[in-house]
Parts: sequence; C-alpha cells; structure tokens
Amino acid sequence: MPISESLAKLADQTKGFLPADEAGALHDAAVLAGPGIWLEIGTYCGKSTVYLGAAAQTVDAQLITVDHHHGSEENQPGWEWHDESLVDPSSGQLDTLPSLRRTLRLAELDSVVTPVVGDTAAVGRWWSTPLVFLFLDGNHTEEIAQHDYEAFAQHIVVGGTLAVHDVFPDPADGGQPPWHVVVRAVDSGIFEQVSACGSLRVLRRVSAQSIGSGTHTP
Ligand SMILES: C[S@@+](CC[C@H](N)C(=O)[O-])C[C@H]1O[C@@H](n2cnc3c(N)ncnc32)[C@H](O)[C@@H]1O
Repeated sequence: MPISESLAKLADQTKGFLPADEAGALHDAAVLAGPGIWLEIGTYCGKSTVYLGAAAQTVDAQLITVDHHHGSEENQPGWEWHDESLVDPSSGQLDTLPSLRRTLRLAELDSVVTPVVGDTAAVGRWWSTPLVFLFLDGNHTEEIAQHDYEAFAQHIVVGGTLAVHDVFPDPADGGQPPWHVVVRAVDSGIFEQVSACGSLRVLRRVSAQSIGSGTHTP
C-alpha cells in the first residue's frame, strides 16, 4: 500500500535528496521488513523519514533516525548542496533539526519515529539493539560510510534488510563510498542484493558471520 496522498505531498515539499521513485521503493522495502526496530542514518529535514515513518506505522515498527543535523561536507557554504535558508543565524551553522521537527509535526508520526541528534561515531559506540531494517544515507566520505556500515549493519538480524542510498557504480554519476559499502556487503557473503531503484540498493542479510572492521575498496 503506498503512503497517503497528504504524506506524499508533505515529503515532496520537504527539502532533501530522495526522488519519488526511490522513496516509494524504500517504503516498500521497509514494509516488507516487518515489525521490529528500524534505523535510519541521515535524516536531514525528514524527507525519507516520512516514507519510512509511514511504513513503520503500517507494520507496527519503530523507526529511530540519527543525524547531527549540521549537514555533510557537500551541504556546507560554498559546496554544491548548500542551502543558506537552513543556516541558524545565531550560530552561523547549518541546522536541519527545526525543519525535521516541523516535518514530523505535520506528518503526525511521533508515535513511531524517534529522532536521535548525534554523530554516528558517538551513537555507534552505544547502539546494541537488533535491527530488522537499516537505511544508510548519512555521510558519504569513505571513512564514515564504512564506519556506519560496520557500526550499525552488524546489528541487522539474519533475514533483515539493509538499504543503501546514493549508490553509483560509475564514478561519473556520483561519489563511490556507498557503492563500496554495497560491494563489501555482498562480496563478504553476509548480504545479498534483493532489488535496486535508481541509486537505492536493497540487500538482505543471509549470514550471521561477523562484519569485522577495516575499509574495503574494490
Ligand atoms: C544525504 S543527507 C540525508 C538525506 C535524507 N535521508 C533525505 O531523505 O533527505 C545526509 C545527512 O547525514 C548527516 N550526517 C553527515 N555526517 C554525519 C555524521 N557523522 N553523523 C551523523 N549525521 C551525519 C548530515 O547532517 C545530513 O543531514
């Protein structure tokens, strides 16, 4: 079942980086993952969170969404994806938390979505809850993309789902770290690919083998 027209409209009006077809595919993959704890890495203003929150409501899951809300490298002044309207004038820093709050208030998803404001390096130190669904859409540098995979994908139960956004096998289309994460996950035999839509890849955990550490570039 697709998300309601009003939520789709709200997501459409929310600033972010997820085309509608990929958002629909993300929603459907999440619904299939079923009830349990879901984790989103990279919230920004909540565009993907609306789709995942709507899916969580459908199957009685709980979504936790993590972001420090100060943007990635490409969101900083002078970079391609900088949005001056998201800068907090009192600090001069990008701050997407007020926009997320507004999105969640309008979406009425408070009962199924819990935002965590923090750096993934810090959250990864204490996170221990088993996951049935993980969406990686945070920092796209090699070091942090690999960190986020190691820190959080290890908690996905066998049969659970890993979705990765901004996966570009061809460097001409975009940055490579999310692609490297997908290659690492599949080559290790721990995940297998289930589907792809645009730059979204959906994988399923098929092995309880430990993910381990260390960067991996194909
Ligand atoms: C690509 S955006 C997420 C887009 C969002 N999923 C959407 O649908 O619009 C990436 C987000 O990751 C966050 N981020 C970057 N590095 C981070 C880190 N080390 N810890 C926590 N959040 C981080 C940024 O603040 C940014 O909001």
